[in-house]
Amino acid sequence: MMSDRITLVEVGPRDGLQNEPKPVSTAIKVELVDRLTDAGLPVIEAGAFVSPKWVPQMAGSDEVFAGITRDPSVDYPALVPNLRGLEAAQRANLKTIAIFLSASETFSQRNINCSIAKSYERVQPVVAAAQEAGIAVRAYISCVIGCPYEGAIPTKAVAAVAEHLVGMGIRELSLGDTIGVGTPGTIRPMLKTVRSAVGDEITLAGHYHDTYGQALSNILASLEDGIRVFDSSVAGLGGCPYAPGAGGNVPTEDVVYMLSDMGFEFGVDLAKLVDIGHWICRVIDRSNGSRVTRAMLATRTEP
Ligand code: HMG
Ligand code: MG
Repeated sequence: MMSDRITLVEVGPRDGLQNEPKPVSTAIKVELVDRLTDAGLPVIEAGAFVSPKWVPQMAGSDEVFAGITRDPSVDYPALVPNLRGLEAAQRANLKTIAIFLSASETFSQRNINCSIAKSYERVQPVVAAAQEAGIAVRAYISCVIGCPYEGAIPTKAVAAVAEHLVGMGIRELSLGDTIGVGTPGTIRPMLKTVRSAVGDEITLAGHYHDTYGQALSNILASLEDGIRVFDSSVAGLGGCPYAPGAGGNVPTEDVVYMLSDMGFEFGVDLAKLVDIGHWICRVIDRSNGSRVTRAMLATRTEP
């Protein structure tokens, strides 16, 4: 077995819900986060302090953060695009924020309305102010394999963004296969190029959408390349309003099932996750993307 620790970053309440067409109430969002806390997840991305004009579903993230019951051992980050978002994160008393940039020029324009170069200028003061305030910063790089507008993205474009972020002092980079087109054949060279650009001290995380059903294979390939942090979403919820055709994130249940069986320990309760995924899919009227959940529910005998 591979011996060291894995950290799962549950992105269901943010990535999972941001693209849902019907508004999800604050009460449901709070219940989702609280139940994920109870299931033992160590990091739960619980909202986004972005423009409500751009992503209406994330409006009211301040109310979500005010409503959840925080476990002091759990980190509850939120997406932050600019200084205004950072101020909201500070009011919500967050320990960590997540900034987000892209390796694709067109996706950058569509998602955050600026070029990659401009996005460095925009996030630099956010990172500096967060560090000054003792808030940790995680950074996403989107479109590390493919872009919905430009097609294949060269690994050196990903490495260039990674180097810029590390130069600003970021120590954890989440590599987003935003549209889920990657396979071990493309993920491995991308990881190798980024790793050689940023060095061994930087934590790299895999953020793999499962559009083409490759996410678990990509996690396995990443594990073999030393990655130990993975983002996932209960029931495989997820997608991005500015990435047409993107499927959900890899389902947390499926990641826990696979990695537990490989001998990794998480302290995450799979049975509780299955129930949470089943519940949220019924509440928001969405099909459950977790094959593990479908299999377990099909064979479960009710007491
Ligand atoms: P903009 O229109 O260029 O900027 O948007 P602006 O400064 O002109 O602001 C527009 C309006 O939003 C203004 O309101 C601002 O006040 C307001 P108005 O004056 O018109 O009434 N505004 C805000 N409101 C609340 N909180 C804020 C904020 N900032 C401005 N922080 C901006 C630029 C970056 C704000 C916008 O493009 C935006 O919010 N984009 C977010 C898009 C997004 O959230 N996408 C999904 C998340 S990324 C993702 O899913 C990928 C990921 O999962 C990894 C992967 O899979 O690859 C992370
Ligand atoms: Mg995503």
